[in-house]
Amino acid sequence: MDQQLEQLRTEALAAIAGAADETAVEQARIKYLGQAGALTVVSKGMKDVSKEDKPRIGKLLNDVRTAVTAALDERKAALLASADAAAFAGVDVTLPGTASRLGSLHPITQLQDRAIQIFRRMGFALADGPDIETEWHCFDALNTPKDHPARNEQDTFYMPDGRLLRTHTSTIQIRTMESSAPPIRIIAPGAAYRRDEVDATHLAQFNQMEGLYVAEGVSVADLKGTLEFFFRELFGSDAQFRFRPHFFPFTEPSFEVDIKATALGAADKWLEIAGCGMVDPAVFESINSKRGDTAYDPEKYTGFAFGFGLDRLAMIMSGTPDIRYFTQNDQRFLAQF
Ligand code: PHE
Repeated sequence: MDQQLEQLRTEALAAIAGAADETAVEQARIKYLGQAGALTVVSKGMKDVSKEDKPRIGKLLNDVRTAVTAALDERKAALLASADAAAFAGVDVTLPGTASRLGSLHPITQLQDRAIQIFRRMGFALADGPDIETEWHCFDALNTPKDHPARNEQDTFYMPDGRLLRTHTSTIQIRTMESSAPPIRIIAPGAAYRRDEVDATHLAQFNQMEGLYVAEGVSVADLKGTLEFFFRELFGSDAQFRFRPHFFPFTEPSFEVDIKATALGAADKWLEIAGCGMVDPAVFESINSKRGDTAYDPEKYTGFAFGFGLDRLAMIMSGTPDIRYFTQNDQRFLAQF
């Protein structure tokens, strides 16, 4: 029996060493270790081995089985390694890989992020509010009563319960003043909605960024300085500005801001880019009566507010002729940003 086992070992190890591929290794495994394999048959014969031979033969059988198993594993690993090497032969692993195309942020989101960064540096905090608003937050609190003509112009989409899609993000300024006392300095970016006919320069849903600064002694000079700094950061230090008198119900005095900048291809023409003004004391009064205190005492505090459309700004900056491109998700357009 000893001899038979030694012979099996030699034979099995030789067969495994000569196995040319994985199938041959598997065949060798079945031949020696399988259910009807040679070693299995021998171990079944163990019950007939005499008592004194049993320990020795048993140990030998175990040794042979371990050796064969190890040889099988080793051969399999060696075959796998040489298959890998064969697969890589002829491949220059120092060549650059095939780049996969990464997506990017939407141009309006990119502009919004940049604008937020600039205002952050001037100490403006980011504020937020709901898209579906009450009439009070959108109009009444902003000195725009029911019969006010400006309210009609800005007519929007109403819910059955009387709430509406906000026509500007000034609603966020109202909400901020309701919940916190001065001084406050916030920017309010977000979607705004208007009942506009959609065309090359109008969308029924667009993106705004508004801002509000309320403290003691805030003046028109602060307003001009802040907006000029902001737009110069965006359009270059050579940008020129013009503040034209305008009307908004919630600011007095009010202005529209025009810019002339080479970076905009507008070295010699004025482009309107924002609305702004000093917060009308009537707005502070309506906040006070809502809050039930005099936190926004118009004798003590003044403030400025401003607002601009991000879509319009992005159009001007990129020379995009039609605002609708920003909403169509056409890769050929978006990939340019
Ligand atoms: N809310 C105004 C608009 O949507 C913009 C604005 C904001 C004007 C603040 C003045 C002050 O047109």
